[in-house]
Amino acid sequence: MCGIVGYIGRREATPVLIQGLKRLEYRGYDSFGIATVGSAIEVYKRTGRISDGEAGAVGLHGCIGIGHTRWATHGEPSDVNAHPHTDCAEKIAVVHNGVIENYSELKRQLEERGHTFRSETDTEVIAHLIEEQYDGDLLAAVKAILPKLIGSYAILAIAEDSQKIVAAREASPLVLGIGDAEVFAASDMTPLLEYTERVIYLEDGDIAEITPDRLEIYHGGERVERPIELISWCVEDTRKGGFTHYMLKEIYEQPQSFYETIRAGISERVRKMVMEADEITLVACGTSYHTALIFKYLAESLCSIPVRVEMGSEFKYFTPPLRGLVIAVSQSGETADTIAALKMAKARNCPTLAITNMQGSTVTRIADQTLLMRAGPEISVAATKSYIAQLAALMEIINVRCEGAFDDVLSHAHLAIEDVLLQEIKEAVDLCAKAEHIFFVGRGPFYPVSMEGALKMKEISYVHAEGYAAGELKHGPFALLTSETPVVAICTPCPTYGVMASNIKEMKARRAPIIAIGVFGDTELAEIVDIFIPIPKTHLLVQVLTASVVLQLLAYHTACALQRDVDKPRNLAKSVTVE
Ligand code: F6R
Repeated sequence: MCGIVGYIGRREATPVLIQGLKRLEYRGYDSFGIATVGSAIEVYKRTGRISDGEAGAVGLHGCIGIGHTRWATHGEPSDVNAHPHTDCAEKIAVVHNGVIENYSELKRQLEERGHTFRSETDTEVIAHLIEEQYDGDLLAAVKAILPKLIGSYAILAIAEDSQKIVAAREASPLVLGIGDAEVFAASDMTPLLEYTERVIYLEDGDIAEITPDRLEIYHGGERVERPIELISWCVEDTRKGGFTHYMLKEIYEQPQSFYETIRAGISERVRKMVMEADEITLVACGTSYHTALIFKYLAESLCSIPVRVEMGSEFKYFTPPLRGLVIAVSQSGETADTIAALKMAKARNCPTLAITNMQGSTVTRIADQTLLMRAGPEISVAATKSYIAQLAALMEIINVRCEGAFDDVLSHAHLAIEDVLLQEIKEAVDLCAKAEHIFFVGRGPFYPVSMEGALKMKEISYVHAEGYAAGELKHGPFALLTSETPVVAICTPCPTYGVMASNIKEMKARRAPIIAIGVFGDTELAEIVDIFIPIPKTHLLVQVLTASVVLQLLAYHTACALQRDVDKPRNLAKSVTVE
């Protein structure tokens, strides 16, 4: 769950690597480091974030280098555990994203053979193993040691007397950017956008030998060709554009994310797959799991197709009997648990579809078909515009199943999303910023919308929040309701409106302050609650979107009021590539 970068060419490597690592910080930011090859291997690494003037402070020279931004898995965040890691003689340096599962055994064997370790990381074994094999041919040494590694890895290695980078990939993403007599490597395409639009996605099992003007890729001992693909994103998409935080910028980009995803439509092959399915299973984690749950409510009620939703992390160990289409929903396309679930569905011969924002990501390589969301790069750790784009893709599937019944609704939904961006919510923010615990409740599709509201609140504001089905509160959590426990309730015109309004009255009777999201003109509801936040009176599909956006804004402004690190909340990384 770390980010790696590499550069080889005519430029000084350090600024390219530092800039690349800043772009990858969303993958982890406990510590970072770079190594370059000049007259010797030089390493700079430390705990903490990369500062703005970092490239100048680093002081490493050379046109070949590798870098790493870390989200600790083995060994606490510390200077010594930060990557790159080197061998005993400090002539070889390695960065690694992934987990070497058998590293304790390898480390013990290496120590018995006289190697001294400096860090507690699994990665350091790779540098020592390469050292044992290295006789001037870095490619041969890396090839020789890879069969000893069990687990996942994207590795970049350099050696003091070798003018090249060797890269290897197994179950962790690695992209190469092809420039003019220069090559870039990175965990995803965002660090490459500044320099090139031509990329090669390495496959699991690939090993690449990279020099400025020669790139050779090997797989299973054979030389292979991988296609050069063009990236559709541009570097401006990754900038803050005058917003205080990426998260706010991304919230404001949601009308466009939704619109573009709907406009892109669904390919004929995906359409056929969707039409032929007599049952659908979705596998996903976190926010993507919530969009999958929303889909279940909407698809089952609007087009009567049975839908099952499974958490990636559970599915692998408790796989249910599977029939019909399996859809993996993942913004990054790299979530290890979702990938594992998708692989199991493939192994059971189910037709598989990936819904992702990341062209070329691992899920797109495994699934039979891909439905690409058009959210553009999402930098903030908390998912917002990718959530809305996932909903666009999933609603489009519902629309296909319903033979275009929602064409009109979906093609105008972005306008309603735009409207709620301007909604005044200060009073609700003040209440949430004072609270220690908040409940988010809804019924039907608004239940997972509430779960998502609670997830957003806890991950960026650190206020404890629970998403609950409104009717379930009285079966236990009522005991927690006090005048200090705000409840955010979604109560819009739909079949559960009446019962939801009764639930709100019950909660009010337990003195809980109620923040209600309802539709414009619902004066009856506005009168019984403490704070009323209106959203446009629209189709159910659109209410789901607009209510979600209000909850994102509530979490965002609460986090700002509490002076949290909104874009990089503590302990979290955007792409969870470990199980
Ligand atoms: C929360 C968030 C996470 C992700 C989850 C799955 O804001 O972003 O809960 O949704 O880690 O990630 P993807 O969608 O990349 O598989």
